[in-house]
Amino acid sequence: MSSSWGNALKISIFGESHGPGIGVVLDGVPAGLALDLEQINTFMRRRAPGRDKTSTPRKEKDLPEILSGFWNGYTTGTPLTALIQNSDTHSSDYSQFASIARPGHADYTGFVRYHGFNDIRGGGHFSGRLTAPLCFAGAVAKQLLAQKGVLVGAHIFRAAGIPDQPYPTLSLDAQTLLSPGEKDFPVLDDAAGEQMRAAVEKARLAQDSVGGIVECGVIGMPAGIGSPMFDGLENGLASLIFGIPAVKGLEFGDGFAAADLLGSQNNDPFCIRDGKVSAETNHAGGILGGISNGLPILLRVAFKPTPSISQTQQTVDFKAMTQGSVNIRGRHDPCIVARAVPVVEAAAALALADAFLSQGM
Ligand SMILES: Cc1cc2nc3c(=O)[nH]c(=O)nc-3n(C[C@H](O)[C@H](O)[C@H](O)COP(=O)(O)O)c2cc1C
Repeated sequence: MSSSWGNALKISIFGESHGPGIGVVLDGVPAGLALDLEQINTFMRRRAPGRDKTSTPRKEKDLPEILSGFWNGYTTGTPLTALIQNSDTHSSDYSQFASIARPGHADYTGFVRYHGFNDIRGGGHFSGRLTAPLCFAGAVAKQLLAQKGVLVGAHIFRAAGIPDQPYPTLSLDAQTLLSPGEKDFPVLDDAAGEQMRAAVEKARLAQDSVGGIVECGVIGMPAGIGSPMFDGLENGLASLIFGIPAVKGLEFGDGFAAADLLGSQNNDPFCIRDGKVSAETNHAGGILGGISNGLPILLRVAFKPTPSISQTQQTVDFKAMTQGSVNIRGRHDPCIVARAVPVVEAAAALALADAFLSQGM
């Protein structure tokens, strides 16, 4: 099913961008997890629009209302449901897209797939807004993982071609991992962040948009979580991460760069460190054979530039079968990468929580 995912921990995301609300049902959350609701809301605010000038001016509070599965401060073990109201919708901005395809959007493919019955307002179920319930689910998964000593964080690795510092691949500590998430613009190097912001603003003024890369790190992961072949950690992570709109690429560890290395350069020599099996380097990004090796898990996610730009663009009317042009009005992120940082964390946390629970841990 398109918007349901998971083995031991299942999520089902519902709603459309301009419908009454969006939400998620989580099934498989163990009973007795003391949810910190303030922590969930703080995490959700990191994704919500309007936090930084690089994001859309659409105002949404993104306050999840928990409808089931939570009682007296603890999860009950039965389905946990959260609903988020949509309030700031301008649906008239979208009426023309029932037949005119916005380049870079799913208007045409959605029309063909759903025979014209899909809700086109605000991108409907294809909208980046559907990552709000994903973040709720991810916030719960992060709390579950934290109980096991596993921490997930992320930062903007690159935006508009401008690089941040990378996470250290071996000595990644909690402060370095999590500090970007405490900032309005989640980078390690604030000077690089200022350059990124300036480049985003330049693109916005030129009626254009930019993309970028989010780097995600996981620490405290014990060795031995995951499986080979089709149920590995990389599989689960990839499946959820490609569920995030605008994701076009994903790499683990050295990723595509590993293809140009020699085996002697790419292999991570094993060693014993603090009485544990460890390695001298971490080109593998913490995963071997689909299974965690106890080193930090590192992955990078490429986001395309925001498809909605206010320049006139060539397109077609797919009902009238004519070629013409389109001008997109409405409110859009000139760069979605900052808002995508917590979304990547959420997707990663869900994949890892599912892997733990699938092994009865
Ligand atoms: C957090 C987030 C916010 C987004 N905001 C916008 C936006 O304001 N304008 C836009 O055109 N696309 C936005 N997108 C991307 C589109 O939803 C996405 O590119 C589009 O639905 C087509 O899907 P695809 O790129 O996965 O093929 C956003 C994506 C995310 C993850």
